[in-house]
Amino acid sequence: MCGIIGVTGTPDACEVLLAGLELLEYRGYDSAGIVVADPEAGTLWRARAAERAGSIQRLRDRLDEVPATPGAGVGHTRWATHGPPTDANAHPHIDCTGRVAIVHNGIIENYRDLAARLDATGHKRTSATDTEVLAHLIEDEVEAGASLGEAVRRCLRAVRGDFAIAAVHAAEPDLLVAARRTSPLIVGKTETVGVVASDVAAALATTRELYALDDDQVAEVRPGAIVVYDLDGVRVEPTRIEVAWGVRRAMKGGYPDFMSKEIHEQPQAVRDTLLGRIGSDGSTEIEELALSDEELRAVRRLVFVACGSSYHAGLVARQAIERWAGVAAEAEVASEFRYRQPVLDDGTLVVVISQSGETVDTLHAMREARRRGARVVALTNVVDSVMSREADGVLYTRAGPEIGVASTKCHLAQLAMLETFALHLARVRGALAGDELAGIAGALLSLPDALQATLARADEFAAVAERFAEVEDFYFLGRRTGFPVALEGALKLKELAYVRAEAYPAGEMKHGPISLIEPGAVVVVIATRSSLWEKVMGNVEEMRARGASVVAVADEGDDETAGLVDAVLEVPSVIELCSPVVNVVPLQSFAYTVARARGNDVDRPRNLAKVVTVE
Ligand code: AGP
Repeated sequence: MCGIIGVTGTPDACEVLLAGLELLEYRGYDSAGIVVADPEAGTLWRARAAERAGSIQRLRDRLDEVPATPGAGVGHTRWATHGPPTDANAHPHIDCTGRVAIVHNGIIENYRDLAARLDATGHKRTSATDTEVLAHLIEDEVEAGASLGEAVRRCLRAVRGDFAIAAVHAAEPDLLVAARRTSPLIVGKTETVGVVASDVAAALATTRELYALDDDQVAEVRPGAIVVYDLDGVRVEPTRIEVAWGVRRAMKGGYPDFMSKEIHEQPQAVRDTLLGRIGSDGSTEIEELALSDEELRAVRRLVFVACGSSYHAGLVARQAIERWAGVAAEAEVASEFRYRQPVLDDGTLVVVISQSGETVDTLHAMREARRRGARVVALTNVVDSVMSREADGVLYTRAGPEIGVASTKCHLAQLAMLETFALHLARVRGALAGDELAGIAGALLSLPDALQATLARADEFAAVAERFAEVEDFYFLGRRTGFPVALEGALKLKELAYVRAEAYPAGEMKHGPISLIEPGAVVVVIATRSSLWEKVMGNVEEMRARGASVVAVADEGDDETAGLVDAVLEVPSVIELCSPVVNVVPLQSFAYTVARARGNDVDRPRNLAKVVTVE
């Protein structure tokens, strides 16, 4: 997830770009860059910096170099997905002539094929990014006589994947060309200025006359003028956006806080994470894993090591690995793993899971695993994080920056990436037949839509949560993949609402904890259909017989379950091993609602930090 800004028609172009990037940093801050046309010289002026949070300041330090009367310009703040955050990989990217520049948010799924064709025809690429291929594709079209707008339309017809782009060409110094497919982008204007941006906040500083682009629409933005075409060059009318917010609210996409915004970003986070890695036929490709099929076939045991929500993702992953790939797998809390003197060897693959890639407990566990002879893979959301640099291979989620301290979209992206890895391992080891691989792939690829359908029920989840907002003791129960979901739901309630919430394997209650159950107790149970559903409902009966109120996460339309509990959180039905991706969402909403009812700051809960860098 990156941030894009473009402007034309103002002598303050560079300041407008930098101010816009500052408002977009929540979308990524690995690196930043701007480019502006110099109409007098007939060239482009570019500055880039890969200083993480200090990147924009480094650009500001160079403002004395900019052209006296800048033309159109574009800017970008990056969240790396392809290629580490370096100056060379920072956007804007340019073509061989240096006269075409482009910024991009999204993933070009077929960039390797496009790059091979460009390399074969003599283009010199200078970065490891997927984005740069667009600059060279546009260069070819411009060389063939196309205007910048037509060149962009032609090259996007060859692109598969998601994109929001903005491009400039030295030969048309007042023109911005912007386009999108799935990734967000808006355009706007005043009488004399034109602007494009990834979100409303960054454009509001310039104008409130804003328009939304639909997929595969290309806008040609000039000072005070916007013309929009489809990819075939047919003119279309953009949709006017009515904005009721101020800039600060707009940074949250109109949501009251980052957590609710990030909950609603989950379908896209999962979609981006799966993009280009799974085919509907069950084919898989994880470019950055860096472990050969032969090395994967030699693995005799996997150990997932993590903390908090990432550990809960590991508990799901171990089940997927054992059920799909047929390899022994376990999950451990990092702070325990690193001190218990684990017996590891070269047949053990340790997978550390950390959205930040910096959690110190997990980092030390990773180093201990390597000391003891294991190969290590790091699953993280941050390209070039400490763990990704030290690991033998990496698995990147593509959730974009997660600002809320409580993990939501990163947790779901971890689940999606881990299950993709499990499918990959199963395929490489020949553990599943072709139709089984395709069936699981189809289930994974359907998750973004299932999540969208789940989020459509957010008001229902909130209404159920409000009935229990005053309760001080909760129990979360689940079996098999339901238990990690129960753990995650309990953690969310603890860290956001500051309420006691304990999670147990449902079958464990009769071994002691059931003595806690009395009238007034509230039990949340994961009761979506599986081969263990009847056993789960038996546990529900045990709870209700002792006076507890029971809230069930259940399949949509499952009236039988609904008739056996006090409240239902309905979710779309998905295959059991994928169900945690969907079943967690109502519990995120439940915890969020109870926390808000108690007046808590859901983005910055007390006593917590987003990255735990102390033991
Ligand atoms: C989850 O909501 C918490 N914020 C916390 O448990 C978190 O998952 C844990 O600290 C691990 O963080 P990491 O994924 O960055 O390593």
